[in-house]
Amino acid sequence: MSKQKSTEKTTRKEAGAEKDFAKLLEMKRVEDIREDVKLVLEGQYKEAYEAMLDAHAAGLYVGLVGPVGCGKTALCRKFAYDLGREFYWVTFSDLVRPATLIGSFDPTLVFKFGFAAESYVPGPFTLAALQGGLFLANEINRGDEYVLNSMLDAMEEGRLYIPQLRSWIKVDEDFYVVSAMNPAEMRGTRKLPEAIKDRIKVWIHLDYPPRSLERKIVEANCPEYKIPAIAYEKILELLEQFRGDAQVESPPSLRSSIGMARLASERAARTKSKLDNKIIAEVANLILPDSCQFKPGKKPEQVVARIVRDTLGAS
Ligand SMILES: Nc1ncnc2c1ncn2[C@@H]1O[C@H](COP(=O)(O)OP(=O)(O)OP(=O)(O)O)[C@@H](O)[C@H]1O
Ligand SMILES: [Mg+2]
Repeated sequence: MSKQKSTEKTTRKEAGAEKDFAKLLEMKRVEDIREDVKLVLEGQYKEAYEAMLDAHAAGLYVGLVGPVGCGKTALCRKFAYDLGREFYWVTFSDLVRPATLIGSFDPTLVFKFGFAAESYVPGPFTLAALQGGLFLANEINRGDEYVLNSMLDAMEEGRLYIPQLRSWIKVDEDFYVVSAMNPAEMRGTRKLPEAIKDRIKVWIHLDYPPRSLERKIVEANCPEYKIPAIAYEKILELLEQFRGDAQVESPPSLRSSIGMARLASERAARTKSKLDNKIIAEVANLILPDSCQFKPGKKPEQVVARIVRDTLGAS
């Protein structure tokens, strides 16, 4: 095939792909961003949920503190859904700027409408403030102080300044902010600025749940699988060993236990075998070396192999 022909073919294929994309985009567009979350509302999650209800009723802001993947976002989603609110969030990092939260002009629309409201694309914080939604400031202690401060007026004074439009807007009275963060001593986090810390009056601490509750959570996230009770016990025992091991710096989260249960089920089904210790050890070797952080100088595969061997008697 000549070079030109092959280029034409690629271009036609690309045009088709673009049309498909537009069709898919229309089909998959999320109209209602509220999402019913199948949360296991027991133990620490029930206590946290009730504290959130009371803080919200008292007009106080809540901060959720807990290690990665312990259920902070799931809890917020559930809370927003139960309140009937739209749920917006931003995960903070050095790359998040005030415009990420508040909004910015779309240059092509500015060309048409000028620097006017029609050309302005509001950010998630502004949308939540206008619609009376719930805004989750995720990983708030990774945010730059200057960026975090752009939320203060809306949280405290009920008004928000949109600098590009040179306008103050009145914040909807249902607007609510929940903050979430990993404990401050974890890598990549910084101390929360006092101005923000002082405005969050109710700090709720979460951790990885005890085994019986983790089992219910894993089951809730594996509705399509029939996992034998003994396999659940082995997977959760293994995770517990990781969380207590001196060579593991940051342990596997709930995503890892859910992932282990799902991958082990699929492997057992595909190989038409029992979900036994051998399969659990195989999926542990696939998932756990990259799901944890290990103490400096420790080889992930070796630590995983040791804990798996000690817990399951296989590797
Ligand atoms: N109580 C619960 N009931 C059911 N599923 C849960 C529960 N808690 C957590 N999960 C599930 O565990 C996984 C991790 O939870 P989530 O994403 O909420 O953690 P996170 O604390 O926000 O994590 P990160 O620190 O990475 O933001 C998700 O799949 C979530 O649905
Ligand atoms: Mg989260």
